[in-house]
Amino acid sequence: MKLNGDDVLVPDVWQDETLLSFLRDKLGLVGTKFGCGKGLCGACTVHVDGVAMRACITPVSALNNAKVTTIEGLANGDELHPVQQAWIELNVPQCGYCQPGQIMAAAALLAHNAGPTEAEVEKGMTGNICRCGTYPRIKAGVLRAAEIQRGDG
Ligand code: FES
Repeated sequence: MKLNGDDVLVPDVWQDETLLSFLRDKLGLVGTKFGCGKGLCGACTVHVDGVAMRACITPVSALNNAKVTTIEGLANGDELHPVQQAWIELNVPQCGYCQPGQIMAAAALLAHNAGPTEAEVEKGMTGNICRCGTYPRIKAGVLRAAEIQRGDG
């Protein structure tokens, strides 16, 4: 696979080994979080070929040279992604555990819709659970990130 811009040869993986396990346990990329392990909470969200995917239910064997991006690879070198910039500007996280998944989901949303409405943000972020209830700040963060991405101040 291509992981965060680098070619990665996938060594032996056990049958049905998940992308989440591979990233965290074999590569030490622990920014992607384990929450429910059942595809229900969004804590493990990564991009596979630009689409937000749940790493906890994605078998490594299904990737076949896919382009995978994790939270560690979202920034462009020293330049943070607009979603990361907005998250800092608006102090979006509380405990922070779900936030890598939230950020990856938001970045995928904005990659496909540069000017989402509030309703589109709510719909697009549905399924990414935050036990601290930071949903209002998450929504504001996505809308602010859209502005940053468009160069609107
Ligand atoms: Fe993957 Fe919850 S840990 S969706």
